[in-house]
Amino acid sequence: MTMIQDILALKEERQATILAHNYQMPQVQDVADLVGDSLELSRAAARLDSEVIIFCGVDFMAETAAILSPQKKVVLPEKGAWCPMAHMITPEQLCDLKTIHPEAAVVCYVNSTAEIKAESDVCCTSANGVQVVNSLSEKEVIFVPDRNLAAYVARHTDKKIIPWNGYCYVHDRLTAEEVRVARAEHPLAEVLVHPECRPEVIDQADFAYSTAGMGKHAKASAVKEFIIGTEMGMIYRLKKENPEKEFYPLSTKAICQNMKKTDLVKVLRALQTLQPQVTVPEEIAVRARRSIERMLAVKI
Ligand code: 13P
Ligand code: SF4
Repeated sequence: MTMIQDILALKEERQATILAHNYQMPQVQDVADLVGDSLELSRAAARLDSEVIIFCGVDFMAETAAILSPQKKVVLPEKGAWCPMAHMITPEQLCDLKTIHPEAAVVCYVNSTAEIKAESDVCCTSANGVQVVNSLSEKEVIFVPDRNLAAYVARHTDKKIIPWNGYCYVHDRLTAEEVRVARAEHPLAEVLVHPECRPEVIDQADFAYSTAGMGKHAKASAVKEFIIGTEMGMIYRLKKENPEKEFYPLSTKAICQNMKKTDLVKVLRALQTLQPQVTVPEEIAVRARRSIERMLAVKI
């Protein structure tokens, strides 16, 4: 049997579901039951009835699944797959910010720790940040940890956004100059970038979308070429779903090292051992769950 056959057979036997983020390696995406953005994967984690979730992504994604489904076994195949941005704010720093701005609501990007979610009023992803902020009655909103997503949301709302100074190192280093160079090379292409990019990069693009939004746009558009300003893993999915279209990365350096730590050997081992399991202490999970469920209730 090949490793893929072993994975599929064991997945069946364990009644497990494999979820993979769009940035995962091609071979991992290919064995997954669902490949998606953070919002799609959170929704799936909430509705799935399988007992085991193998989460091919990074720490905060598996934590979100564990918070939403405490009765399930959530396994992160690579323990060291963590999101640096999610760890750029501590609960103490957020509490200080809340003390300075007592009237403000707190919105945390899903790329945050369970403790930060527990200290927030509501969570959001890059697909629904604007709608989540606009759904609040407060006029001021503390938005953590991503300064770039905060700036993107601030441009699409009347609320006063108080940002934290975190960032994603993969998206934050994409430049407006790279957009100009890519456009010169591919003048017929549309430029799609992620809202984790800097404002000046978004200004040069045609559209800013979450990774799922990019997928939907590429499918629906009559345009045949696209420059993609996000992590390289997205290119594989876009090409697979649209073989007749061309996708050019804005930068081939846009690689999230931790998203690439999961491979088929680790997926198989995760299915065999059901380790490493991700759990969240119930006193934190109960408060974090409130902010995630409040997000899931917002219509987009
Ligand atoms: P989305 O797939 O939700 O757009 O998130 C991007 C990301 O950086 C996840 O780590
Ligand atoms: Fe975190 Fe950026 Fe990697 Fe996403 S791509 S996991 S935001 S470092």
